[in-house]
Amino acid sequence: MAAGTGVFAEILDGDVYKYYADGEWKTASSGKTVAIINPTTRKTQYKVQACSQEEVNKVMDLAKSAQKLWAKTPLWKRAELLHKAAAILKEHKAPIAECLVKEIAKPAKDAVTEVVRSGDLISYTAEEGVRILGEGKFLVSDSFPGNERTKYCLTSKIPLGVILAIPPFNYPVNLAVSKIAPALIAGNSIVLKPPTQGAVSGLHMIHCFHLAGFPKGLINCVTGKGSEIGDFLTMHPGVNCISFTGGDTGIGISKKAGMIPLQMELGGKDACIVLEDADLDLVAINIIKGGFSYSGQRCTAVKVVLVIESVADALVEKVKANVAKLTVGPPEDDSDITPVVSESSANYIEGLVLDAKEKGATFCQEYKREGNLIWPLLLDHVRPDMRIAWEEPFGPVLPVIRINSVEEGIHHCNASNFGLQGCVFTKDVNKAILISDAMETGTVQINSAPARGPDHFPFQGIKDSGIGSQGITNSINMMTKVKTTVINLPSPSYTMG
Ligand code: G3H
Repeated sequence: MAAGTGVFAEILDGDVYKYYADGEWKTASSGKTVAIINPTTRKTQYKVQACSQEEVNKVMDLAKSAQKLWAKTPLWKRAELLHKAAAILKEHKAPIAECLVKEIAKPAKDAVTEVVRSGDLISYTAEEGVRILGEGKFLVSDSFPGNERTKYCLTSKIPLGVILAIPPFNYPVNLAVSKIAPALIAGNSIVLKPPTQGAVSGLHMIHCFHLAGFPKGLINCVTGKGSEIGDFLTMHPGVNCISFTGGDTGIGISKKAGMIPLQMELGGKDACIVLEDADLDLVAINIIKGGFSYSGQRCTAVKVVLVIESVADALVEKVKANVAKLTVGPPEDDSDITPVVSESSANYIEGLVLDAKEKGATFCQEYKREGNLIWPLLLDHVRPDMRIAWEEPFGPVLPVIRINSVEEGIHHCNASNFGLQGCVFTKDVNKAILISDAMETGTVQINSAPARGPDHFPFQGIKDSGIGSQGITNSINMMTKVKTTVINLPSPSYTMG
């Protein structure tokens, strides 16, 4: 079945995808649409509704009332519906993957993997939620100095209310469900604002939740122009928590949002520190996987290699040999390197490359670009005065900085505004642990490239890389607040009948 046909037909109005509110597929009153450009053909692939602020207001009201009832729905029933949605999502992996290929140029196989991973994430969240939300804490007062055993304190976790979920273009399905599933199992309702590129994949994913039979108004998805509904959504008084993944916009959202919990995963300049004793074949494979998968468009991509000078020539040769094996072309062919998401993104990457050229970096391959397609490029002898030493290209271009000591590598890593992940390659585990301790990043991988998964691992950035911790368990906890009930008993002098 193709996207937009069969069971998916109800989500289309002519050639425009509808938005989702109150358990129904709707056409926006503005009569306006937003075009989604296929990164490969650079032509309009899909159109989505341009919702108005008035429509956002209605959605917020619906989400608020649906949440009140949902919070009272037994945990096992919430879990049951989530398992159902996960199964439906996996069943429809092909048409959803087709959208990912067309609107964000994700290689065909990776697109299917994203959908399957998302189904697994939903199921795991349902299981984990039942476990961690099904238990609370019991405290007695006489454990605190000066108190008698006269107070029993019961704590439990209750939902926050309406969660605004804003996923990025690079994982419009997976990074949407990583917000939706924890929110729902914890008894919250959802307003999803999908990225423009990725909106149709997101709508198809929401349709799977619709087919699972969640209550009306509990899950909503509004599409539209950021300029019209972006700030309006993030500053909306009806929102009780924002979970955002994306770029710099997140910093702006954090400043404008009200007094509500925020979960922010922003950019990264993930460093790969390579020591003299590292297994260079293993490093090269991980640099390729970490730096070039999905054409470098991952916040956890390896974005700078910091290699000890004595092994730098050997490592660069090995990476070069592996770069030569990468296939370049359209996502439909399952090429390793596919067009980057937009022309502006390609222009930005080109700006970094030209700056590095002007300042004397060594080009290990010829720089080549056709439209949004940029051939993989390794830049050696990059120095700190080059923009690419600090900025994240979000593209298939990887700088190598040669260092004379581990301290120099750690210093470069910590001088970055970002602090998402990093990795270190060495056979000396003691050194690896000390380096991990010294690196100012949310996660350090030892002998492997940075990655968010497995999806139940804690995932967090520090500095400009984010606020809060994700991973299934942390997200469930983050989308709840603690409620305590204190039972006051008579004082010890009171005698029972
Ligand atoms: O782009 C940001 C994602 O959180 C990275 O996820 O490590 O699974 O590719 P990933």
